[in-house]
Amino acid sequence: MTECEKMLGVGMIGYGFMGKMHSYAYASLPYVFEPPQPQIKLIGACALSDASRELAAKSGGYEFTTPDYHDLLARDDISLINICTPNYLHKEQAIAAIKAGKHVYCDKPLALTADDAEEMALLANQSGRTCQVTFHNRFCPAVLRARQLVEDGFLGDIISFRAAYLHSGYNDPKRPMSWKMRKETSGAGALLDLGTHIIDMIRWLVGDFHKVNARLRTLIKERPRQAGSTQLEAVSVDDIAAMMVELPNGALGSIEVSRMAVGATDGLRFEIEGSKGAIAFDLMDANWLSVYDDTKPGGDYGGERGWRKIECIQAYPKPAMLPGAKAPVGWMRFHIESLHSFVSNVINNRTGCPSFEDGLAVQRICDAAIASSESGLWREV
Ligand SMILES: NC(=O)c1ccc[n+]([C@@H]2O[C@H](COP(=O)([O-])OP(=O)(O)OC[C@H]3O[C@@H](n4cnc5c(N)ncnc54)[C@H](O)[C@@H]3O)[C@@H](O)[C@H]2O)c1
Repeated sequence: MTECEKMLGVGMIGYGFMGKMHSYAYASLPYVFEPPQPQIKLIGACALSDASRELAAKSGGYEFTTPDYHDLLARDDISLINICTPNYLHKEQAIAAIKAGKHVYCDKPLALTADDAEEMALLANQSGRTCQVTFHNRFCPAVLRARQLVEDGFLGDIISFRAAYLHSGYNDPKRPMSWKMRKETSGAGALLDLGTHIIDMIRWLVGDFHKVNARLRTLIKERPRQAGSTQLEAVSVDDIAAMMVELPNGALGSIEVSRMAVGATDGLRFEIEGSKGAIAFDLMDANWLSVYDDTKPGGDYGGERGWRKIECIQAYPKPAMLPGAKAPVGWMRFHIESLHSFVSNVINNRTGCPSFEDGLAVQRICDAAIASSESGLWREV
């Protein structure tokens, strides 16, 4: 039996927003990718509420549901565990899953702190299991093309960059508290929620960070305990974070994240300048990667100089087959590609990529940013 003919059973921990997205991505694999593909079976889902478990069984198609994730780990027919729970549960659940011999696909952030992430990355390395983090934005064709250009030396030496990941969902002071606004359950606010995505992407493109100087701010300091409640609870995480970054070669950059950027929807963007060229990307215009080749000659009327837009659209290489290279790309397709890469890594006995080590590296940057904000000083990563 080839690896592709093996049945891979899935256990989903958490069936909220992301639990549904990961399940949809698994169900999509046979339509989106050419055969041969491994046979995927959605076996068990774990969620706390009766309503979520019922949904997982009825629309998710899971064979059984449970409020206790250990029931998934005990099953021999489950080899893949997806972790889609609040951040504070990732460490315990990932460690238990790896110890039970499972491959793990864990949504971001890997953990609450770098210390926790380090334990997870160490165990993942020792286990020989495939452990991957859901930094799905890496899997946008324009971002993959950016990485290809960086690897080909298109940029030359990195000189500077600026990046942002901006959302606006938290502007309404009546938005009630949730696990995403409590430090003990989320670790941090915009920094871990959005910052982990953009920090991972920038680090993937320009390399490891040397130092950061960051400021985190909570703009709405109290919110209703529940929807419609007059009882207020203190928000213990940041709404916005901004950091200056220094790379080992002295290059400087900035990263800004916000859950309160009026007018933003899914505003992830970057501009990177190097000694030979520059690239720019905007997730709200994700079909294109903008590139500037500084080796092209200038001249009368501009010669050949200027920004160009590469039509990355949905130009994923085979085995991608649906919906085809000319169709515009979108958020769910990045998740499907990210999950496909996890499954391919599992069947080919490869470590995950982005790995738990990548998740740890991002977490170290976030920890340094928090420490810098508290001290007001630059912090080495
Ligand atoms: N990559 C992305 O695009 C993306 C987007 C949003 C969220 N996330 C991440 O995904 C994770 C989940 O976020 P979400 O928005 O889906 O949250 P959510 O609140 O919508 O869902 C959380 C789920 O976890 C379950 N849960 C809570 N406590 C549990 C426990 N003790 N045992 C088992 N299950 C438990 C809940 O029942 C619920 O089904 C977070 O780490 C978040 O940062 C990633």
